[in-house]
Amino acid sequence: MHVTVAKSAGFCFGVNRAVEVVYSLLNQGEKVYTLGPIIHNPQMIEELRQRGVTILETIDNAPKDGIIVIRAHGVPKKILETLQEHGYRYVDATCPFVEKIHDLAEQAVGRQQTVFIFGDPGHPEVIGIKGHCEGNCFVFRDAAEFAEFTNKFPEWKNKPVTVVVQTTFKVPEFENCMKILKKVYTNATIFDTICSATVSRQSEAVELAKKSDLMIIIGGRHSSNTVKLYDVCRELCETVLIESADELPMEKVRASNNVSITAGASTPAAIIKEVLHIMSVEKIEEMNEASFEELLEESLKSFDTNDKVHGVVVGIYPNEVTVDVGRKQAGFIPANELSNDPNARPEDLVKVGDELDLLIMRTNDQEGTIMFPRSVWTLRRAGTPLRRQWKTSLSSPALSQK
Ligand code: F3S
Repeated sequence: MHVTVAKSAGFCFGVNRAVEVVYSLLNQGEKVYTLGPIIHNPQMIEELRQRGVTILETIDNAPKDGIIVIRAHGVPKKILETLQEHGYRYVDATCPFVEKIHDLAEQAVGRQQTVFIFGDPGHPEVIGIKGHCEGNCFVFRDAAEFAEFTNKFPEWKNKPVTVVVQTTFKVPEFENCMKILKKVYTNATIFDTICSATVSRQSEAVELAKKSDLMIIIGGRHSSNTVKLYDVCRELCETVLIESADELPMEKVRASNNVSITAGASTPAAIIKEVLHIMSVEKIEEMNEASFEELLEESLKSFDTNDKVHGVVVGIYPNEVTVDVGRKQAGFIPANELSNDPNARPEDLVKVGDELDLLIMRTNDQEGTIMFPRSVWTLRRAGTPLRRQWKTSLSSPALSQK
């Protein structure tokens, strides 16, 4: 049996960031509420529940004895305004890629344009995007629904519209929608906002499924991106979706020569490792355990790297500094990794244009991000002596509270 693990399997940047926010607050002794589950993974939700995290369905009558965390999906603007108006303590862990869609939607509405959103109308991310459109939007689930709208309301064909897409939308389905749009609509501004992590994950899954007898998708059954991985793979080979290692269909695994594994954006690495560990029992007949462990480590190696890079500060925010490292990926340094002084503010430590030497601790080419947590960084600024920071704290990054 040959086993391949997708390089893009597991936590994406946005989900990882939101989960780290929750753990960081817990470690600071805070009572934590999340608006909806922080992640589509039942095991991790249970673990967080045991640590005292409470999931709120709405903010109506939400308690004020803790901090509310907004998950990576984001929320309608009205919810953020209500939290502020009523003096709630909250941390907005909306994925920056989703925030970008909110900005595009608000700008379009400001230009008196209507927003066409391609996505699942019931998905929290789409509900959040709608909530930044002030009612000037239509949501289309797929190309068939969009074609029906186009035929029914031909008057929209010449109106100015802005197009955005749910970050986890299926790439081929969006291409079908754009075929209709480009043929018919004369005044459309299109923003392909499908997350690159989603694109890479789906295309890598398709390539693996083409050469596999069995495809194993690990992830929550309520996770949009996991279900889409399942959908694209099952057209190409036998595919199973499992939420945890104990759901592994061993009969099917034993009957397969080529097994490939991928996982949704909310799947912790520990579950992927557990699945591989169970499969190793099968593989021990073919190779010794040590060599299987090597295979496992090799498969998961893309999560970490120790490369040194040179970067330029391009953005300073309360919770992080963004760095251009001359690659296509966006670089982020969480604020609490910049200094050992918990009161230090990012704007007091670095300026836009500062050059930094950084040690990468985690990179993800699939989703286009580099994180520099626990960074060893050296500042090079004209006119100032070199300053070296040696960060020894292993704390998780925390976003500043609003
Ligand atoms: Fe963000 Fe992309 Fe993940 S939009 S939450 S990094 S799938």
